[in-house]
Amino acid sequence: MNLNKHLTNPIFKIIAEVAESSKLETYVVGGFVRDILLKRKKNKTDIDFVCVGSGIDLAKQVSKKLEKKIDVKYFNNFGTAMIHYNKEDYEFVGARKESYRSNSRKPIVENGTIQDDQNRRDFTINAMAISLNSSNYGKLIDPFAGISDLETKTIKTPLSPDITYSDDPLRMMRAIRFSSELNFEIENESYSSICKNAERLSIISQERITEELNKILLSEKPSIGLKLLFNTKLLHQFFPEMVELQGVEERGKFAHKDNFYHTLEVIDNIRKNTDNIWLIWSALLHDIAKPQCKRFEEGHGWTFHGHEFLGGKMVPRIFKTLKLPLNEKMKYVKKLVTLHLRPIVLSQDIVTDSAIRRLLFDAGDDIDDLMTLCEADITSKNPKKVARYIKNFKLVRKKLKEIEEKDHIRNWKPPISGEEIMEIFNIEAGREVGILKNSLKDAILDGKVKNEKEASIEFMKLKAKEINLKSND
Ligand code: CTP
Repeated sequence: MNLNKHLTNPIFKIIAEVAESSKLETYVVGGFVRDILLKRKKNKTDIDFVCVGSGIDLAKQVSKKLEKKIDVKYFNNFGTAMIHYNKEDYEFVGARKESYRSNSRKPIVENGTIQDDQNRRDFTINAMAISLNSSNYGKLIDPFAGISDLETKTIKTPLSPDITYSDDPLRMMRAIRFSSELNFEIENESYSSICKNAERLSIISQERITEELNKILLSEKPSIGLKLLFNTKLLHQFFPEMVELQGVEERGKFAHKDNFYHTLEVIDNIRKNTDNIWLIWSALLHDIAKPQCKRFEEGHGWTFHGHEFLGGKMVPRIFKTLKLPLNEKMKYVKKLVTLHLRPIVLSQDIVTDSAIRRLLFDAGDDIDDLMTLCEADITSKNPKKVARYIKNFKLVRKKLKEIEEKDHIRNWKPPISGEEIMEIFNIEAGREVGILKNSLKDAILDGKVKNEKEASIEFMKLKAKEINLKSND
């Protein structure tokens, strides 16, 4: 098969010329080839090249040929070099007899042929190469019938899976990630090998594991990957809190739902409505504290009181362990987990404007994301119930919009600043300023005072009298 017509990027001709003049047999390999054959729309911004010889020399010569001066980054240990050019990353590596490991601590010592190199790659579908050599430019080199595995949608290792996975245990995560992203089946022997070797994941850095987990969460139907992680027990190696969600306890006629599978449904639901990885993380973690908060109340059944607050508190620790960022993204997830029951309460009771204002105040700009999370949380099998919840949430959204238009609470700032309060009452910064500010906030959110300056000053003066403060006028 010749894939010449897919090599439209001018870089291929440049590399082919360099390869020809320096007599370096060169191929484009890996994900780029796979995605061409899959006709995948995903815009890959990294392309991998392999040559029989020094990848570093090839990169140096390619960079010289480009019209502007381009830096080559070296990862000498791995015999790898990278060029960043026209918003793309081109990675060059010499063919090797040993496994391809981007982050291995072990230096690559033995050079090999293109076949040796393909042997040590992760999956048959990622081991295909396209020749950039003049004798057969564009020819597909596919020694392990990767193309037929693409047709049958199969994830399979080129060598015996035990060898491929022990070369780099991260590949067990990658197998599941590709299976989830591409909706492929992991071939039986490979699946058993993952189950058998799951504990070997312990030698892989958490950053790399989490990178794959995030890719699973961004696949179209993340539950495919998450179920595989659970069933192979890979999940147990790095995310025990999520494993804990699984299981159903029954007492008499009372059983609670399986929170693991419920969470997967919520994630699949929310994925249909968002690309925001942090919103997906909020779905993943929304019920994370349920196992700890589970109680049985005689005659009433199972309850999970307070799981939203405890769940919110668990977020920083989980983020830290999983090496997720400990910045405003984490705060956002914490906030959504903590607030995830609030709109439900609003949809059940008769909603007061005050409750709506308080939710707008607490959620701020994340109110729409919170509503998206709550809607995804509806996983009842009873279509009547689902229709009722959706209708109620629509009402809540409508109410939120009306109140926001009227009162502008979303990004609420007090109509009077702390400095103004100090000036009006001739006081220093301190406890009293806090008391006045808080009571004003409560009064505005409760609708007792208009969200404007004059009314706020009037209210403050009354409040100040209560706590024995005199104003300046
Ligand atoms: N590879 C491997 N083992 C790994 C990582 C990568 O054998 N643990 C090889 C595969 O041949 C892979 C190539 O290196 O195709 C490039 O890896 P990477 O850029 O991580 O993935 P892609 O396959 O390009 O796919 P994607 O861009 O979707 O991550």
